[in-house]
Amino acid sequence: MSLRLAGMGQTITFTELDPLAFTAALDGFVAVYAAAMNPPARQLAGREAILERHATYPRFRALAALSGEELAGFCYGFHGAPGQWWHDMVAAALSGLGGPPGASRWLANSLEIAELHVLPSYQGRGIGRELLFRVAAGRPERTAVLSTQDTESRARRLYRRAGFTDLLTGYRFSGGEPPYAVMGAELPLRDGTSSQSPSS
Ligand SMILES: CC(C)(COP(=O)(O)OP(=O)(O)OC[C@H]1O[C@@H](n2cnc3c(N)ncnc32)[C@H](O)[C@@H]1OP(=O)(O)O)[C@@H](O)C(=O)NCCC(=O)NCCS
Repeated sequence: MSLRLAGMGQTITFTELDPLAFTAALDGFVAVYAAAMNPPARQLAGREAILERHATYPRFRALAALSGEELAGFCYGFHGAPGQWWHDMVAAALSGLGGPPGASRWLANSLEIAELHVLPSYQGRGIGRELLFRVAAGRPERTAVLSTQDTESRARRLYRRAGFTDLLTGYRFSGGEPPYAVMGAELPLRDGTSSQSPSS
């Protein structure tokens, strides 16, 4: 499926990749991650292994945004489940003092959106939004959850506009990392509306 984005003068093609195709192209995804996030070298080192592991998780869905042959961005998610590192960390934090009452229900039947990145030269033209909505479209889960650095970034604005609300703020996954916000939205995503608590 392709899309001509305003002001880009070129067509962006969105392609869904199965876990095998995703793992075969891991270096390309890590390169986009590195360009978009500019992470410290120590964080980049283990990235490929993390992405590879994520591709084995249930209901994994990955989307690539291509400009011709160039990978302009990507997004992937999977069904969150106990035993997954992020899921267990966030479940523990939400059930502790950090979360609003009932917040752990956000994880009970959730799509975890693990990565969303667009190359800097392609940012601000609707690709990130398109990737996010396509990854979340038609999912069987009740909610979508994710974490992002706890600042008022472009990512945060995008998530809020897609209906995500803060479940946790100032959360540190580990001592050396910056504070994160954990956010959740009811599925399907609804652009421009605010999120509500998930009904049972
Ligand atoms: C966050 C990120 C994935 C968003 O992707 P993106 O393609 O830049 O986002 P979009 O273009 O869909 O939306 C961002 C902006 O473009 C605007 N926009 C959307 N469609 C547009 C269009 N057709 N023409 C012009 N502007 C448009 C949006 O209004 C939005 O404006 P804002 O930045 O003022 O909020 C991307 O910026 C990125 O990779 N950032 C660095 C890495 C990162 O933070 N990743 C997320 C980690 S959780």
